Formats: sequence, structure tokens, C-alpha cells
Amino acid sequence: AAKKLLLLPGDGIGPEAMAEVRKIIAYMNAELESDFSLEEGLVGGCAYDAHGKAISEADMAKALAADAVLFGAVGGPKWDTVPYDVRPEAGLLRLRKDMELFANLRPAICYPALADSSSLKKEIVEGLDILIVRELTGGVYFGEPKEIRDLGNGQKRGIDTQVYDTYEIERISGVAFELARTRANKVTSMEKRNVMMSGVLWNEVVTATHKAKYSDVKLEHMLADAGGMQLVRWPKQFDVIVTDNLFGDMLSDIAAMLTGSLGMLPSASLGAPDAKTGKRKALYEPVHGSAPDIAGTGAANPIAMIASFAMCLRYSFNMVAEADRLEAAIAGVLDDGLRTGDIMSEGKTKIGTVEMGDAILAK
Ligand code: NAI
Ligand code: MG
Repeated sequence: AAKKLLLLPGDGIGPEAMAEVRKIIAYMNAELESDFSLEEGLVGGCAYDAHGKAISEADMAKALAADAVLFGAVGGPKWDTVPYDVRPEAGLLRLRKDMELFANLRPAICYPALADSSSLKKEIVEGLDILIVRELTGGVYFGEPKEIRDLGNGQKRGIDTQVYDTYEIERISGVAFELARTRANKVTSMEKRNVMMSGVLWNEVVTATHKAKYSDVKLEHMLADAGGMQLVRWPKQFDVIVTDNLFGDMLSDIAAMLTGSLGMLPSASLGAPDAKTGKRKALYEPVHGSAPDIAGTGAANPIAMIASFAMCLRYSFNMVAEADRLEAAIAGVLDDGLRTGDIMSEGKTKIGTVEMGDAILAK
């Protein structure tokens, strides 16, 4: 049966980057007999313009029926004043919620050709390949109560609540252990059990899950603040890092900056395996936004979007050889000295979005 992909290019540079992925898919269908069938939908500002919502029910249904969703980026100044519940980001939040995407995968890879342009010393980042697995649907961003309470004495109290249940920690750590088995076979779990009860439970459940099902994987625990320090001091000690929603938000942004530009960073969000087919719902997207400052100029770096498609090949379709080949093509083009503006440095050749996509396809 055909592999069903839903493309949601979105706004700004989203469609520009998605066009380069489309070329790669067309090539794979024509030359590698890959059998992808493509559907397309609107999300974000363009969806709001078309039907007053950040994603239509029809497109939501397509997303739920697809084997994987490729998402570009949403938002832009044009929609800064639309009502809160239909703002562009609401489309992405709706997708995450309805697809129950609880595991956010953020790789931090340093391509050899870019090791010089990191903010850290070359020996610290060269060859870096870590994967942060962030819990995405629980924790302090969603826990109740969540309010600003009027205390009546001229004071107010801002309240957020960190809540994690056993099943949430079991399933996110299960994803981390399974991914570690396909990599360097090591998981580092990060929490703050010294000051948080949710951290105590997190530590207990990860340990129990490891013992029950994944004892072949090396497991270590680290306090999340120390983990942040170690990420900058010696990131190559890590393979897979698993952590909660809040810590994962921050730690993955720190890890991102080890490797350079936003234009290079892919991500994946996975849901639970389907009871019948065993397949996980999944959405793949670059970490960057719609970059209104460069949208329409042909200058956007398509690598984050293309590398997100490589993750899709790897995790949704188990097309490991093809994913490796696509990632090697990205590395090869960088080795050849080709650069979009965001990763440009002295002595390299500056090219635009379309040329970068073409060069990767040619490789
Ligand atoms: P942004 O990621 O769009 O841009 C930040 C800076 O990085 C800009 O200078 C941009 O030109 C540059 N940049 C980003 N991606 C690039 C690429 N592929 N190639 C070259 N340069 C790139 O973040 P910003 O400016 O904070 O937000 C712009 C809009 O995007 C806002 O409406 C925001 O809400 C939205 N946004 C959407 C996200 C999503 O769809 N997942 C994530 C983050 C922001
Ligand atoms: Mg963040």
C-alpha cells in the first residue's frame, strides 16, 4: 500500500522549504519506486485566511488518516492581531493534541563542515550526535490549577502546576530506550528529584521501566541543571537524553545552539503505537518558524525541512538506508562549501533555497 504523507507547508518560508522536500519525494517515487502518496492541506495563517480557523476539520481528518505529517512553519505579522483561539500556532497545537504526540525528538548533530562555525570550540562539537526526547503533552505547561489568582490584598498569585502520572513517564522513557537501541544504546534521564516530587516519581518510573524492559540499554540519571551545564561542557558524553516538557524545552534550545543555525534543525513528534498496526502517529517539522524577515526572497535554508523528512523516513517508514543517504547528501553538499545565507562563512559559496535543494538532490 502507498505510504500516505500529508504536507502542511503553512506560512512564510514554510512553503519554500517544503517545495524542496517535494522534489526529493518526486525523485524517490520516480527513481527508487518509493510509493509515497501526497495529500496537501492548509495550516496557520493561510488556513485562517481561507476558512477562519488555523486548521480545518477536513485537514485534521487528513492528518489523523496519514502515515505521517510534514509540517512547514506557521505565523507572521499579518496574523498578529487575530483572535487567540484561531491564531496560527493554534493549528500546530491542535495537531499535537488530536494526534496525541507526546514525544518530541530533537536531534543535535554537528555536521563536520560546520564544526568551525559553532559558538563552542571545534573539539567540543565536532562529530556531535545527540537526541533529546522531550515529553510534550504533560507537565507544568498543562497541569491544573493554572491561573492568576487575586489574593484580595492587592497581591496576585501566578500558579502553574507540574503533574506527571506513571503512564506518561513510562511511555516517554519507552520511546527513549527504543531509540537508544538504534543508536549508541545509552539514555540519560534528567529531572530535579532533589526539589520536585514529580522528579522523584520520574526517576522511579524511568528506573523501573528500564529494569522491566530495557536493561540492555545503559541508563544514567542527572539533575537537569547539571545536565544543562554538561551539555555545554562536554556534549559528546550524551546519546539520548529523556526529560520532561519544561526542562526539555530549555535543554533542546541549548543543544540547538551547539550546532549552529535554526535553519539546520529538524524535529519529530511521535504518538502512541496504534493497537492494530503498531504504527505511531507522527509529525515532522523544522524547529524554525516562518521567518517573515526573509520569506519570499528565496534565501531560506531548506536543510531543517529536508532533515525533518529524513527523520520521517527513519522513524515512520523504517527506511533507514534512504534516511542515511539523504543525511549524507546534506553533509556532502556542506563539505562542497555550499551555504545559504544563515550558515554562510568566509570562502564558501552562497546559494539560495532552490539551489540548495537541487544540490542535495543531485548528491
Ligand atoms: P523564526 O524561526 O521564524 O526566525 C528567527 C530568525 O532565524 C529570523 O531572523 C529568520 O530569518 C532566521 N531563520 C529561521 N529559519 C531560517 C531558515 N530556514 N533559513 C534561514 N534563516 C532562518 O522565529 P521568529 O522570527 O521568532 O518567528 C517568526 C514567526 O514564526 C512568528 O509568527 C512565530 O510565531 C512563528 N513561529 C512558528 C513556529 C512554528 O511554526 N513551529 C516556531 C517558531 C516561531
Ligand atoms: Mg522552546
